Amino acid sequence: MSRKGFEVSDEQWIYHGGEFVRLGEVRLSPATHALNYGTGVFEGIRAYWNESRGTLQVLKLREHYERFLNSCELLHIDCGHTVEELCEITLEILRRNAPREDTYIRPLAYKAAESIGVKLALPSELSIFTAPMANYVELTGLRCCVSSWRRVSDNAIPPRAKTTGSYINTALAVDAAHRAGYDEAIFLTQSGYVSEASAANIFLVRKGNLITPPPTADILEGITRAAVMELAEKELGMPVVERDVGRTELYAAEEVFFTGTGFQIAPVVEIDDHPIGGGRVGPVVERLQEMYFRAARGEWPEYEGWTVPVEVVHGAAR
Ligand SMILES: Cc1ncc(COP(=O)(O)O)c(C=O)c1O
Repeated sequence: MSRKGFEVSDEQWIYHGGEFVRLGEVRLSPATHALNYGTGVFEGIRAYWNESRGTLQVLKLREHYERFLNSCELLHIDCGHTVEELCEITLEILRRNAPREDTYIRPLAYKAAESIGVKLALPSELSIFTAPMANYVELTGLRCCVSSWRRVSDNAIPPRAKTTGSYINTALAVDAAHRAGYDEAIFLTQSGYVSEASAANIFLVRKGNLITPPPTADILEGITRAAVMELAEKELGMPVVERDVGRTELYAAEEVFFTGTGFQIAPVVEIDDHPIGGGRVGPVVERLQEMYFRAARGEWPEYEGWTVPVEVVHGAAR
């Protein structure tokens, strides 16, 4: 099994109820609406530790909060902050906790009413907390299966928004894949085309093109997906094609890989017991991994706009 869980510390500073508090001080009622009905939205943001600069480089911060506010809008959640304010609150959490390691940031906005009854016209709450996060999955070649669970569709639970409830779909697929001995599941849409992985977008390399399912394939429009498309076009001169992908095209691909904030860039070496690219990590994904990490850690001046640096003063936790 290649998926890791990462511990969330009670001692850390988080943002909750409009102020900075210790996570251990927060108590939620079992009657909280979002816990009962899945009426929450969230984001996953990474900050990469840059040892030589003594900074955390927060990757695509603005883009994550733009998507977060779009997700909020879908559930009629007013999180009470602009993108700029959310970015600033996040930087302050990092300054206070001062982690000197790769860190994951989890903004969460949810229906906080303690009441029974399914509806959306209810008060909301915003929390932002962090967890240390090294590699979420192995980056040296995943063994995957196509899931018998289908991706939720835009007309059921819109995958374009990161809603907490929709991750039941993810959990069912991942759990079934793990029980069958695979590392990860690949979803098909209701009409049988390739959609995405459990919590990552999917790319194929075929005949010099980079191919990925379009936004209409019930995917989350990934921020890493857009970043990889930019690198492939600009740095590798590779045409990127967004189009429907059939299941067996996966088996025929020269390379397959996943992209996501948690997954980063994760090569796939086997799908449904078919070796991909001879069962070895391919040259395109290797180059993309190398470029992506250089940009994400703030080590590539041309891409410094991808990250926001936070200076981590040793022992700054206050
Ligand atoms: C369902 C799903 N698809 C794709 C992604 C990748 O999106 P991003 O690159 O913005 O993290 C994620 C992870 O965040 C996800 O949960």
